[in-house]
Amino acid sequence: MSRLARTAWVIEALAIRLAKSRESGLSLVLYTALRGWIEAGELAAGEALPSSRQLARELEIARNTALAALDRLTAEGLVASRPGAGLFVAPLALAEAVHQAPALTRRETLSRRGDRLLAACAPSGGGHRAFAPGIPALDLFPREQWQRLLRRHQQRAPEQWLAYQATGGLAALKTALCDYLRLSRSVRCTPDQILITQGAQQGFELIARLLADPGDSAWIEEPGYGGAQVALTAAGLSLVPVPVDAEGIDPQRAPDGPVPRLIYVTPSHQYPRGVTLSLARRLALLNAAERHGAWIIEDDYDSEFRYSSPPLASLQGLVDQAPVIYVGTFSKVLYPGLRLGYLVLPQALVEPFRQANARLNREGQMVAQAALAEFIEQGHFSRHVARMRRAYRSRQAALREALAPATAMGLTLSTGHAGMHLLAGLDDLVQEQALVEAGRARGIQLSPLSRYFTGPATRAGLVLGYAGSHEQEIARAGDWLARVWLGLQCPVFQR
Ligand SMILES: Cc1ncc(COP(=O)(O)O)c(C=O)c1O
Repeated sequence: MSRLARTAWVIEALAIRLAKSRESGLSLVLYTALRGWIEAGELAAGEALPSSRQLARELEIARNTALAALDRLTAEGLVASRPGAGLFVAPLALAEAVHQAPALTRRETLSRRGDRLLAACAPSGGGHRAFAPGIPALDLFPREQWQRLLRRHQQRAPEQWLAYQATGGLAALKTALCDYLRLSRSVRCTPDQILITQGAQQGFELIARLLADPGDSAWIEEPGYGGAQVALTAAGLSLVPVPVDAEGIDPQRAPDGPVPRLIYVTPSHQYPRGVTLSLARRLALLNAAERHGAWIIEDDYDSEFRYSSPPLASLQGLVDQAPVIYVGTFSKVLYPGLRLGYLVLPQALVEPFRQANARLNREGQMVAQAALAEFIEQGHFSRHVARMRRAYRSRQAALREALAPATAMGLTLSTGHAGMHLLAGLDDLVQEQALVEAGRARGIQLSPLSRYFTGPATRAGLVLGYAGSHEQEIARAGDWLARVWLGLQCPVFQR
């Protein structure tokens, strides 16, 4: 195209744009004026209106401009047309019906399943995070190092990482994880048995949907973890609470009834009671699962944090061919917003799980997976865990010290040999409720033990997370709690 021709093309294109914007501007003026007069009653229902042709001619505007304004008024029910008689102001009822239409058709109620699901979801509390359970030390996360790894893998990302994936996770991450699990948790696995998920929660959901049918029974620990309860409930399973004592879940105390399809447990560190499943109970549980043809879901959410002894081997690794699906998460060791976790599956389930996950949940986060693989390979992961372990030990000590005046007067605390929270035992549910309310008034979120029961609570207590807050903060909150508890025991202590 010559320079002259190009200039002409630019001018013509601009003229079209200008004309268009003028037209839409004029059409808006017509629409607004007519609408205003109709709403004010100055143009009454049934009154005739000029046609688009008439408007175009008299006002010297394009017919399309007039048509656009009249069409919009017609669509909103303010103007109607009668064959042969032209346009007129619509009866008021028509305009009102159009305005009310969306409200009439809106359906805001949940399904029956939605209602059941919501009932199983404990309200997530806001407020002070001093005692929030399950929140790791976000202040200690090596953000710069992590950002560097993310940046590097982002720059190098092959094009296929931008597409849909169906590999069950990045091979490098599966290999790094497998080495780590074999060594530190005695898990029996090869890298291809690992399926990377977007957190443990997604793993529970997949297991429930693929290995059980609606109406099947699932044994759960009582008290136990709400996230797993929600996932099983959402899949239509019927939850059978099995009591937990000082040795963990007791399969012998499972009520008679339908055999379980799934058994959900936290053997390394029972959530929330904090006990470790004894060897005798591990064997009893494996026997029960074998007898009933059930799968055990082993949730090993925080086994990295043990303070006085090395962690017990996983249940999955205890015997060959154990009917166990091992579930892990990076929510506690790195941060929950990362949304990365994994399943270690028996060989026969690898392919069905990979396929279903790729269709149901979609795979992704390849850059984060690559960064994480390198984070583990280069030893940053182990160093971070060791640093967090030291910090948690000291945060737990700060909490114990702050609560000492209360423990001296009979408040009981769990052993705290592992994990990220302590369990304070209380006399009864009345005391539990009183403390929760005092916390609410003070902006401190307290998690009552009764909330972790699916049936009637048989114990009262508070689940006191300490990992997510530094020592001063946890000590301040602990002081406050000790004072309030002492005040409830004996009002003389109340200041
Ligand atoms: C017992 C238990 N399992 C698993 C998880 C982690 O779940 P996710 O990986 O979905 O964050 C938590 C988090 O609070 C937990 O308390």
